[in-house]
Amino acid sequence: TERYAVIGNPVDHSQSPFIHAEFARAENRSIRYERLQAATDRFSDVVSAFIKTGGNGLNVTLPFKGDAYRYATELSERARAAEAVNTLTFRDGKVYGDNTDGIGLVRDIVENLDFPIADKSVLILGAGGAVRGVLGPILEEKPASVTIANRTLIKAEAVAHHFEALGMGRCRAVGYEQLTGEHFDIVINGTSTSLQHELPPIPHGIFTTRSLAYDMVYSSGLTMFLQRAQSENAGMLADGLGMLVEQAAESFHIWHGVKPETRKVTNMLRELLA
Ligand code: ATR
Repeated sequence: TERYAVIGNPVDHSQSPFIHAEFARAENRSIRYERLQAATDRFSDVVSAFIKTGGNGLNVTLPFKGDAYRYATELSERARAAEAVNTLTFRDGKVYGDNTDGIGLVRDIVENLDFPIADKSVLILGAGGAVRGVLGPILEEKPASVTIANRTLIKAEAVAHHFEALGMGRCRAVGYEQLTGEHFDIVINGTSTSLQHELPPIPHGIFTTRSLAYDMVYSSGLTMFLQRAQSENAGMLADGLGMLVEQAAESFHIWHGVKPETRKVTNMLRELLA
């Protein structure tokens, strides 16, 4: 039996074992998928031990996506651009690193929510690892514009420069106060604020009745960000559950060569988390 796991710290609340088990069941495959907790300074030891005992692949979650990027011996183009890896594959003595977060987000928006990104104005809140992980695939959809707003402006500028230097597209970096008087077709919350039940300091008026408000964090109720969007009559609200399932589906595809059906699994998870 092939052996997979999700590695993180903490990792006990990860839904990846459930998602991959459901995919495997639907595809009639027998795999093992565990949770692997590693001390924050023990990532490479734990991964090396997993490989030695026959591990085939790992999903990587916080705080190890940078460690996984450095551990990989081969990198996909999107992992290289993100400087972060969420999917490791061990094959022929090599360690392949990929990042499926961005394609997961884009598929959830474009296919599941049926909201095209092409030619839209996109605002992304935050400039940490979560945002770097998704920016490449968003830019590939050819939006009309991408604005990155961050509390620490210099970090937004660095992220924008990084992707521009790679020739992946133009991004404008701003502080939150600069958003006053502007509005966007798509507003994506990539900050960690929802985890702390906080709200990034967005001015009023950035949503229109046709805007999509997307929180990369998922939660049973509406996050503070989605509550604000709702109170401003944003046209569509979504949390990151669909992204979570889509990034897992892309990892499954990398490992098993088939693209699993996601809708049912997302609905099941939604009920489980309610
Ligand atoms: P991750 O890997 O999840 O992106 P991170 O690299 O620590 O984590 O980044 C967290 C992001 O959330 C950053 O953009 C951070 O803004 P700063 O760069 O200014 O720190 C943002 N963030 C966290 N708490 C915030 C808050 N209360 N208001 C606004 N932004 C916040």
